[in-house]
Order: sequence, then structure tokens, then C-alpha cells
Amino acid sequence: MILVTGATGTIGRRLVRALAESGTRFRALVRDTAKGRELGCEFAVGDFDDPASVAAALRGVDRLLLNSGGALPVAGRQPMVRQQTTAIDLARAAGVTQVVKVSAWRPGPAAKLSVRAHWEIEEHLKASGLGWAMLQPTGYMQNFFTGEGGFAHGRAVAGPYGTGRVAYIDAYDVAACAAALLAGPPRGGATYALTGAEALTHEEIAGKLGVPFRDLPPRTAAAELRAKGLPDWFVEDLLWLYADLASGGMSEVTTAVRDLTGRAPRTFDEFLAAGA
Ligand SMILES: NC(=O)c1ccc[n+]([C@@H]2O[C@H](COP(=O)([O-])OP(=O)(O)OC[C@H]3O[C@@H](n4cnc5c(N)ncnc54)[C@H](OP(=O)(O)O)[C@@H]3O)[C@@H](O)[C@H]2O)c1
Repeated sequence: MILVTGATGTIGRRLVRALAESGTRFRALVRDTAKGRELGCEFAVGDFDDPASVAAALRGVDRLLLNSGGALPVAGRQPMVRQQTTAIDLARAAGVTQVVKVSAWRPGPAAKLSVRAHWEIEEHLKASGLGWAMLQPTGYMQNFFTGEGGFAHGRAVAGPYGTGRVAYIDAYDVAACAAALLAGPPRGGATYALTGAEALTHEEIAGKLGVPFRDLPPRTAAAELRAKGLPDWFVEDLLWLYADLASGGMSEVTTAVRDLTGRAPRTFDEFLAAGA
């Protein structure tokens, strides 16, 4: 039995659909009963902040999809670290053998925002003795519609992006990779750097979205973020991410999606045609 956490999120909803379509047995962890019913699959109600509820959801489970997000840092610490490391410990106690973790692009100790948090969780998972697979996606194409991370800015693509290229990925492809790993043969440990089919500048993306592009100097972007009420330290961390994007830190295109699913990842045009 597979337990899918973060089942109601950007990746989770698409993963639930992919597993259901392939006839794979799974259970979704949801915080809200109504959202569980909407998913239309077996579900358990639980919260990462309530370990007993996670332990109950893990009964009879041998594979875990570890995914969560959304919570803002508290005193500079991402709650996700405590939540996911606890879930890993509970999974081992429950007899889980394989964990597929939705991580982030190239996490490391010097990274900021949730990227560093993912590194801490990856280290914990690698040391757990469980089989693991790390999915390290670039940014999701869906961000342009949700405003996640401040990428969508009014009706323009605006930020200190310069001409740096980013190989954004459709969450649909991340979910397809997770489904392949969860339903496939067990693996000891492997990391997959997941990208879309092409690396585009934000000006090119704005053109595809049919909105203007505003390349903001970092100082202007910082002032706009502060004016929105974001604390200084968070703005600094966001500038770190922007600088990484502008310098081509997410411009590599990998073969991981094709390797795992047997087909190419979607291009930005294909993502838009599929209805986001
Ligand atoms: N967005 C990107 O471009 C990007 C790129 C690379 C990696 N990532 C990573 O991908 C992950 C998902 O990000 P996202 O923005 O796509 O998130 P999301 O769609 O908002 O999904 C978050 C999921 O986690 C669940 N969740 C949150 N807190 C929980 C808790 N305490 N207990 C149980 N479930 C909880 C949410 O459930 P509810 O429905 O109840 O809220 C939701 O299903 C994050 O770890 C993020 O760092 C994101």
C-alpha cells in the first residue's frame, strides 16, 4: 500500500489521478475530510503536526510519497523539516521500505528558503536506512498562475530575472515521475533532477503567456516585496533565489523525466495547451 501525503496540492492532485488511472492501490493523507472526498480515493485524515494521525495513516503502508509545503518559516525555521523528519521516523517504525520525496532543485546547506529545508530532510532520509528516491524539480510552470514565490506579478511577469534561462517543469511531469517510482521496482537510493523540456527566459515566457515582462533591478524588487509586508530576512532570501535564476542556476535540461516515464517532459506550450 502507498501513502500519498500532500495529496491535495499541486503535485499531489496530479499524482492521485495518475495512480488511480493506472489502477495502483494507494491512500491519500488529507487534513480536511471534504478535500479527501473530493479526491475520490481512499483517504486518511491527518496532519504532519499530529504524529499520531500520521502513524495511523501509515498502517499497512510500505511506500510513502513525502510531500508538503505552504507553511511559512517560524523564526527562520521551516516547519517542513520537523514535519517531514518526524514522518520519516514514523514510516520506518510502521514498516515502510521506500520513500519518494518531493524535494527541490539542488538543495544544499548554503541554500535558503525551503531549498535548505529540503536538504536537511534529504540528509535525514538518507540516514534512515529506508530505500529512497529524491525528486528535485526546478520551478513549477503552475507558479505563473498561482503567484507562488511572487513569480506572477499582477498581469506581468516581473522580477529581477535578467536573461537567465529556467527549465521550468509542469507539475504533471513531477507527478508522473513520482507515480513511476511508487509503482516500480524497489530502489536503494537515487536522486532525480527533474526539468522541463527546454530552458526559457522570463521574457520568452511572458510572450507565451501574452503578458508584459518587467525586468526589475533587485533593489526595486526588494522594495516592492517589503511594501507587500514581507520581513527583511525573507526578502533577502527571495533575492538569493532570484539571483540564482538570473545567473542560470536552473537552466540545465536533464533527461530524468524521460528516463523515469519513457516520454519527454512537456514544453511550456504543451503545458498551456493542456490547460495548466
Ligand atoms: N512551487 C515550486 O515551484 C516548487 C519547486 C520545487 C519544489 N517545490 C516543493 O514542492 C512541495 C510542494 O509545494 P507546493 O507549493 O506545490 O505545495 P502545495 O501544492 O500547496 O501542496 C502542499 C500540500 O501539503 C499539504 N500540507 C501542508 N501542510 C500540511 C500538514 N501540516 N499536514 C499535512 N499536509 C499538509 C497541503 O494540504 P492542504 O490542502 O490541507 O493545505 C497540500 O496538499 C514543497 O515542498 C516545495 O518546496 C516547489
